[in-house]
Amino acid sequence: MELSLKNLTKRYGQKVALDDFSYVFPRGICGILGANGAGKSTMMNLITDNVSRDAGEILFDGKDVLELGREFRKKLGYMPQQQGMYDEMSAYSFLLYVAKLKGMRTRDAKKQAARLLELVNLRDAAHRKLAGFSGGMRQRVLLCQALLGDPEVIILDEPTAGLDPKERIRIRNYVRDLAKDNIVLWTTHIVSDIETIADDVILMKHGRLVAHGRPQELIETAGGHDLEDVYMHYLGGDDKDA
Ligand SMILES: Nc1ncnc2c1ncn2[C@@H]1O[C@H](COP(=O)(O)OP(=O)(O)OP(=O)(O)O)[C@@H](O)[C@H]1O
Ligand SMILES: [Mg+2]
Repeated sequence: MELSLKNLTKRYGQKVALDDFSYVFPRGICGILGANGAGKSTMMNLITDNVSRDAGEILFDGKDVLELGREFRKKLGYMPQQQGMYDEMSAYSFLLYVAKLKGMRTRDAKKQAARLLELVNLRDAAHRKLAGFSGGMRQRVLLCQALLGDPEVIILDEPTAGLDPKERIRIRNYVRDLAKDNIVLWTTHIVSDIETIADDVILMKHGRLVAHGRPQELIETAGGHDLEDVYMHYLGGDDKDA
């Protein structure tokens, strides 16, 4: 199983958000690093078909995802960076709602919603309105909706932003286990989040691929001690937004 991006380009007016970008994501976790505006979310929005590409291909096992259409979308779990939530719904009913959109059977949806809420430590809050949830609690509900339906391609755009360390570690461990059989893309500014769990790391700048490799390889090449050193080595010179 692999997800392959070929010469993918996205422009917003004059701005090239993703610039002739090519990369193959195999099974496992790929950590994606880059400054604000580097093009990380744009890449994810292209894969999930939330924005349309200007050029290039996105292939899942050799077939274009646009042609696969629904067949691909059923395999996809997406946690967006920002999302308005349905404040009047409870966490549990929100998950049932998303499950319905994904075409899941009600029985499976109920079972999975309960299991996922337990997993992110929200069982006791499951039937409370989302309006009263803290930022970190909302974040965890968003992760749950991405994981409904056992997706094979899991796209997580800053999944741990705003989480306390305990919840971050819990989620990190869970996603690490999931990634054994699946393709996981994980963007973050908390470099340490992916240092121990990512199979591969890519570094992006101005919509382009700057470097990629296994965390340990990158650390050695950069002559550093950890992934933060790698980040500074490749991306530290750029002070202004991309
Ligand atoms: N809807 C849009 N309209 C216009 N420009 C956009 C739009 N979305 C993104 N851009 C521009 O595309 C570039 C890449 O943005 P993107 O959101 O992909 O960056 P990012 O790497 O996800 O950044 P961050 O770390 O802040 O989330 C930026 O210059 C941004 O201003
Ligand atoms: Mg982003």
